[in-house]
Amino acid sequence: MQKEYKRTLITTALPYANGPVHIGHLAGVYVPADIYARYLRLRGDDVVMVGGSDEHGVPITIKARREGVTPQDIVDRYHKIIKDSFEELGISFDVYSRTTSATHSATASEFFRRLYDNGQFVEQTSKQLYDPEAGQFLADRYVTGKCPHCGNERAYGDQCEACGTSLSPDELIDPKSAITGAVPELRDTHHWYLPLDRWEGKLREWILEGHKEWKTNVYGQCKSWLDLGLKPRAVSRDLDWGIPVPVEGAEGKVLYVWFDAPIGYISNTKELLPDSWEKYWKDSETRIINFIGKDNIVFHCIVFPAMLMAYGDGFQLPDNVPANEFLNLEGDKISTSRNWAVWLHEYLRDFPGKQDVLRYVLTANAPETKDNDFTWRDFQARNNSELVAILGNFVNRAMVLTHKYFDGIVPSIPADVDAGRAALAPELSKAVADLTAALDTFHFRDALKSMMEIARIGNRYLQDMEPWKVAKTDMPLTGAILNVALQLCANIAIAAEPFMPFMSERLRRMLGMENVGWNMLGSLDMIPAGRHLAAPELLFEKIEDATIQAQVDRLAEIKEQNKLNAWTPAPQAADVDFDTFMKADLRVGTVLECVKVPKADKLLQFLIDDGMKKRTIVSGIARYYNPEDLVGKQVCFIANLPPRKLRGIVSEGMILSAEQPDGSLVVISPSAPVVPGVQIK
Ligand code: MF3
Ligand code: ZN
Repeated sequence: MQKEYKRTLITTALPYANGPVHIGHLAGVYVPADIYARYLRLRGDDVVMVGGSDEHGVPITIKARREGVTPQDIVDRYHKIIKDSFEELGISFDVYSRTTSATHSATASEFFRRLYDNGQFVEQTSKQLYDPEAGQFLADRYVTGKCPHCGNERAYGDQCEACGTSLSPDELIDPKSAITGAVPELRDTHHWYLPLDRWEGKLREWILEGHKEWKTNVYGQCKSWLDLGLKPRAVSRDLDWGIPVPVEGAEGKVLYVWFDAPIGYISNTKELLPDSWEKYWKDSETRIINFIGKDNIVFHCIVFPAMLMAYGDGFQLPDNVPANEFLNLEGDKISTSRNWAVWLHEYLRDFPGKQDVLRYVLTANAPETKDNDFTWRDFQARNNSELVAILGNFVNRAMVLTHKYFDGIVPSIPADVDAGRAALAPELSKAVADLTAALDTFHFRDALKSMMEIARIGNRYLQDMEPWKVAKTDMPLTGAILNVALQLCANIAIAAEPFMPFMSERLRRMLGMENVGWNMLGSLDMIPAGRHLAAPELLFEKIEDATIQAQVDRLAEIKEQNKLNAWTPAPQAADVDFDTFMKADLRVGTVLECVKVPKADKLLQFLIDDGMKKRTIVSGIARYYNPEDLVGKQVCFIANLPPRKLRGIVSEGMILSAEQPDGSLVVISPSAPVVPGVQIK
């Protein structure tokens, strides 16, 4: 239900501080949230946008252990990178904090304690995997083994990253502790559970009856969870990194990261507004919007709301949870561990001053209803043929012509001149109405298109009116046309601000527009005649092929590296009986001559002294050796293969080499010189 509201609290999923943020995070959560927050602020709404780093959880402890540093070191490092890069991209958080803050641990502890005191938990003992050598319980992530689906030897107890399947540790073949390599055993452990089943009725009513307007992906996921039936969920873990369970006899136990993290939204608001935070959480005239990615839906729509209901005290549930799907990169799933990502801090380093281009491309391609793909070619095309050719070009023409014909002074529209204004006004109104309607319903791709429509209207207008021709005969009409064009530029400055705040700021400065709010949008009287405009500046510049190629090459290198990292020995072949094997006549020979086979880039032609005669062998190793370097070397070969013609050359055998993970071949030689023709036994 759309409700009447006085203020809006925008929350953004707290990114894990176990790595920097990448374009997937941005497209899914932070860019849309920022667009929405900026839009509301421009409208003059009371709005607060909160965020922070999610600094607990197992992956952070794994990373710390691997690097031999403390979890605190890890989160300090990434929190800074994340916070700084968000700021540089213009994500306009009112507060960006972290879940290791003192306010947060006090808030989360108190939250747990109140639920505990009010009988909102059930306690259960269950069997968990335990590493007897490390003397600790193992989180699912800490168990590795072979994936039962694809055979990947390095699957984790919660997921196989090779085939993407969700797993539980007991499904792994040959499970091992990731800490010590020991075989884990099952032991009893005690935890607190939030009985979600108690809240099922209320949740059904709230979501399934009350929020049919939610995005279909969000509503659908909630419905299938609810239809499956809710069960109690553990909210504590055996771990030494996190907020201690604030209950006697809970040594070695911490709050589950998904219990403490969403409470971070509350702590962040408290840090921002120590005296008035409550009105953003406990007033029914506050509207709460959670921006998240699709993997967070159940926690924001089921678990956290159940926590809030269990806490009571007036806490409001979210009004909307506009979760996005995932963004892929060049056709593959983005992955922090495989370094398959465009990292925000690296983008900012490689494309200085181009924050708006990334914001634009990620919005134009936002995975709003289905997974989507980011490619560098598309990034280039959208910059060059949309931002430069449509928006930048229109503004530049209006500015340059005004400087050329009117010395940069906004010309007036004579009383009896229409200059196509009457025809243009409804087009502009429609674009503005579409833009606003799309923003109000979280359809940011459509909103961006409607914003760009204003620039398209402007280009069509200039094309139709041809002020550069009219200027030869009719200066008053020329002035009127440019006045209209400049009013459209002013509309762009406002309409584009949620999406491209840096460009908008520059455009406002060029047009001398301060403090013009959203309510002026659609007006063709924003810039008074007689105003001196600043000098025209180009708002966007072309991105060259070489710049894009460098990024494409970098990704190709990462892909190659990942292939090597993922290499495991081929499974052993089926048994061969001894007599069959002994039929292969393996020998050592000395290379007398070695040359490239003409017009065959893979082949070398050898002449081998095999002790009896000279034998020709053709071998596919030309890409890995200089033929001269092999002359004089001893090589192993199969002597009794039937001769075979390769490129017109009869090859009498096969030289043995070892295949490296990257596919390259290394010739096998005896470890000391031997007599040519001896057999390999
Ligand atoms: N860190 C989580 C993730 O990246 C999101 C936490 S959202 C919060 O998936 F609500 F718990 F804060
Ligand atoms: Zn697998």
